[in-house]
Amino acid sequence: MSKDKLSPFEEEKNDPAYLLSYAHHLERQARQLESEKQLVESERLRLQREVNNLRAELERLRTPPLFMGYIVEIISENKAVVRSTTGPNLVVSISRRIDQSQLKPQTRVALNQRTFAIIDVLPPAKDPLVRKMELIEKPTETYADIGGLDKQIQEVKETVELPLLKPELFEKVGINPPKGVLLHGPPGTGKTLLAKAVANETNAAFIRLIGSELVQKFIGEGARLVRELFEFARENAPSILFIDELDAIGSRRLDLATSGDREVQRTLMQLLSELDGFNPRGDVKVIAATNRLDILDPALLRPGRFDRLIEIPIPNEEARRSIFKIHLKGMNISEEIDIDYLVQMTDGSSGAEIHNITMEAGMFAIRNNRDYITNEDFHNAVKKVKGDKEKVVRNVTGFI
Ligand SMILES: Nc1ncnc2c1ncn2[C@@H]1O[C@H](COP(=O)(O)OP(=O)(O)O)[C@@H](O)[C@H]1O
Ligand SMILES: [Mg+2]
Repeated sequence: MSKDKLSPFEEEKNDPAYLLSYAHHLERQARQLESEKQLVESERLRLQREVNNLRAELERLRTPPLFMGYIVEIISENKAVVRSTTGPNLVVSISRRIDQSQLKPQTRVALNQRTFAIIDVLPPAKDPLVRKMELIEKPTETYADIGGLDKQIQEVKETVELPLLKPELFEKVGINPPKGVLLHGPPGTGKTLLAKAVANETNAAFIRLIGSELVQKFIGEGARLVRELFEFARENAPSILFIDELDAIGSRRLDLATSGDREVQRTLMQLLSELDGFNPRGDVKVIAATNRLDILDPALLRPGRFDRLIEIPIPNEEARRSIFKIHLKGMNISEEIDIDYLVQMTDGSSGAEIHNITMEAGMFAIRNNRDYITNEDFHNAVKKVKGDKEKVVRNVTGFI
C-alpha cells in the first residue's frame, strides 16, 4: 500500500469532524471507566474491611480462655502471689503491659491458662449488696392459687405465718415456733408456689435463694453469701428466706475429692451454723424446698434446723380437680368442660403438668384461629402432655 493513497477508512480518520466526535466518545468512555474503577475500588475497600473484621473475630474465637484469680500479695515489680479460683496460691509473673498501680491485694485479674501470668486487670465483682437486692422478690401468688394442699397450707400458716404476724402469742404460751420448715415432694407439686403465697399473704420481704444458682453463679462465695443473706433477711425483717432446691447445697456427700464439692460443703456448714444461731422468735423465717429429701444431709434435719417437714405430694383426684378449676379460671371456654374426664386422665400428674395441659389447650385454640377453647382442645392437650412425658421417661430409662 502506497503512502499517498489512503484507504477510505483512513481518509475518514483525517476528517476533523469525525475525529472530534471520536475524541468525545473516548472521553466519555474514559469517564465511565474512571467511575467504574472508583466503584470497584470502594467495593474492594469494603471487602477488605470485612476480611479484617472476620480475621479479628476468628482471632478472638481462637484465643484460649483465661483463668480468673485474685491478687494476694505483690512481691516485686514483676511477680505476685495470686489465688486462682481453681485452687492453690501461685507465684506468677505480671505482664509488662499492666499498670502496676492498679494491682492491689484482692484485685480481680485474668491469668494466662498455661503460665498463670497476670495479663489483664478485671473490674471488681459486682457489689454483693446489689446482687442480694436481685434476690428480693415481690410474689403475687395467693393461697387461692394453690389447689389441693389445704392441710399443708394450714401447717405453713401455723409455723410461718402466725409467728410472723402474732409473735406475742408464742411468747405468752411460752413455746418457740419451729425455725424453719422444709417442703418436700416430687417436682412441680407447688412447693415454690406455696412459699411465694406465704410471703405474699404475710407481706413479708421474700428473699429467694436457689441452691443450684448458689453453687453455679456465686462460685467461691457460697459460704459468704449465705452468711450475708441471713444478715440481709434480718435487716429486712419481717422476712422470709426461701431456699429453693436445697438439695443442691445440702446433699449428703460421699467423697469430697474435688474442690467444687468442698466448696459446696463449706456453704452447707455455713447454712447449718446460721440456722443454729437463729432466734426462732424473731421475725425472720426460713422455708426450704427440695425434690430429694432422700439425699439430704441428715445434719439439716436435726432438731433446731429444718425440723418441721411438710410433705407436698402428687395430687389425688380431688386435688387435681381443684387445680384444674384454678387454672381454668380466666380462660375463655366455649362449652362446659368435662373436668371429670380431665381428672381421670391425669392420674399421677403433678400440678405443673396440669398447668401445662391448660396452656396447651389454649395453644390448640390459637393454632386453629379461635379465641375460645373447646373440650376437644383439652383432649388434644392431655394427649400431647402425657405423650411428651412418656417420651421423656422412655429416653431416661433408655440411658440406664
Ligand atoms: N397445687 C397446685 N395448685 C395449682 N397450681 C400448681 C400446683 N402445683 C403446681 N402448680 C403449677 O405448676 C407450677 C410450678 O409449680 P412449682 O411450685 O414451681 O413446683 P415445685 O416448686 O414443687 O417444683 C406453678 O407455678 C403452678 O402453675
Ligand atoms: Mg420449685
